[in-house]
Amino acid sequence: MCGIIGYIGFRSASSVITEGLKHLEYRGYDSVGVAVVHQKKLNVRKDKGMVQDVSTKLDFTSMDGHMGIGHTRWATHGGVCKENAHPHTDCKKNVVLAHNGVIENFSALKADLASKGHIFDSETDTEIIAHLIEENMKNSKTSSFKEAFFTSLKSLEGSYALAAFAVDDSEERLFFARKNSPLVIGVGKDELLAASDIPAMLKYTKTFVPLEDGDVAILTKSGYKVYSLDGKEVSRKQMTVDWTAEMAQKGGYPYFMEKEINDQKHFINESLASDVTAAKSLIDQYENIHIIACGTSYHAGLMFSYLLGERGMSAQAYIASEYPYIVKPNKNTLVIAISQSGETADVLQALRYAKGCKKIAITNVVGSTITTIADCVVFINAGPEAGVAATKTFTCQLGIIYKIIYGKEKLESLSSLIEQMLKTEKKVKEIASALAKSENIFFIARGKNVPIAYEASLKLKEITYIHSEAYPGGELKHGPLSLISEGVPIIAIAPDDETLAKLFGNIKEAKSRGAKIISLTNNLDVQKESDFSIKLPELSSIDPMLYPFAMIIPLQLLAYHVSVLKGINPDRPRNLAKSLTVE
Ligand code: M6R
Repeated sequence: MCGIIGYIGFRSASSVITEGLKHLEYRGYDSVGVAVVHQKKLNVRKDKGMVQDVSTKLDFTSMDGHMGIGHTRWATHGGVCKENAHPHTDCKKNVVLAHNGVIENFSALKADLASKGHIFDSETDTEIIAHLIEENMKNSKTSSFKEAFFTSLKSLEGSYALAAFAVDDSEERLFFARKNSPLVIGVGKDELLAASDIPAMLKYTKTFVPLEDGDVAILTKSGYKVYSLDGKEVSRKQMTVDWTAEMAQKGGYPYFMEKEINDQKHFINESLASDVTAAKSLIDQYENIHIIACGTSYHAGLMFSYLLGERGMSAQAYIASEYPYIVKPNKNTLVIAISQSGETADVLQALRYAKGCKKIAITNVVGSTITTIADCVVFINAGPEAGVAATKTFTCQLGIIYKIIYGKEKLESLSSLIEQMLKTEKKVKEIASALAKSENIFFIARGKNVPIAYEASLKLKEITYIHSEAYPGGELKHGPLSLISEGVPIIAIAPDDETLAKLFGNIKEAKSRGAKIISLTNNLDVQKESDFSIKLPELSSIDPMLYPFAMIIPLQLLAYHVSVLKGINPDRPRNLAKSLTVE
């Protein structure tokens, strides 16, 4: 996964692109580059590193020109180095190209191009596309870049969102193409953009045109046209979003993650305002429900399956990448896919596998690919999430799931509950200091608190690099207990509900083997057994069904504070990216 952006208009292209890349960095942040053309002269600057550092070092914004492209990379083919950073060019430094995705037949294409004399500067699959276009321009009678661009796309297998231009093109224009990787055109006044995601363009427009698979878009100063691969013009719907540019900023917080954790008290209300009627009525019609998702969204899906199960319905949550190996859905199966980005390749593949089934998508991103595949779409309305660690989108996913199951009335206190739990931060910081040097941290819970334990453990490991596992309490004795020795932290998710009696036994089991117990509880006996405890609201003041919302907030804060204490940037954990458009 990578982020791409292109600009044509009246502003400094390099400034617009650099600004946009900061918003796309969540998609990949190992290297960055910008290419602009000015009076038929190409200027490419790129290097490994994050946008802020590289753009300052190479003075991106001093590059003249009103048309250009930019890229922020998450390496797939070739290591992290300047040569592999995008944009890439052909032998003549005429064709300029940036790419998000994976070209699966790149080895064969590369060998063929090499045999025709092409010399490559990088190890990437992307560079071969620039050379392929160069080769096809040689072979076309007119040497037309447009013709060669279309011809080249037909040879590519795999996934791509491409941004490209030719320095010697007959007119100033940018080319874009998409197949299984997101791409949206931003339509401004006398200026046009295209990027992997909307927040990168919000400063300039609120009008967008999401492209579909197989689309090619050509942007000039006077407008845009969209074509199918065979060159026929097609029309694509424009839409407007009510996201503001400020929503995509840090708003005074040091990291997006902290802002996004705090924003949950507002966005939960936006989420609860979403219309779930159609989804609810579909769910009521089916006896067999499969929920597919990855990572954090999978944990929301798991919660969904517990809650539907409580209602006597047969619902199973599957990790999307495993789904095709486990079951064969049929027309009597309702498939619910949960994906914040709506672009996760594993989820899209699983949805495509569920041919013939009715499909519901629960997503945050208007115009994302998942919305084009599903029969029914529910938006979680969480606003743009820039931190790699999902926080507000998880609570908003839960908000939607709860609304589908319980209706909105019972959820009206959620915003104030979240606000109340944000006030545990002082205690959380104290616990973070005690845990920051740990090598292993375990989470335990039972029943529908288990998805919260999984999610808290994922959050912690992803941004602190501390090894962490979560288990249903009953599983401890079946193996993991052998890992518990003096001082090993166990975080027990122990609200005073139907799971407590048995979980209390598991806490004692661990404690008697030396574990350091950190609890989230509103039960006095559990508090007494604990080395540290985060207080949940008194039983008299909370509807027990809302415990998951109360518990996840301090656990997100805990991961965040441990990360910061360890000197890690929680928004950009190593080896990860926000939107995973490769399988
Ligand atoms: O966009 P999606 O919800 O489909 O993303 C799925 C996972 O990649 C994602 O939830 C990931 O696990 C989170 N970044 C973890 O915080």
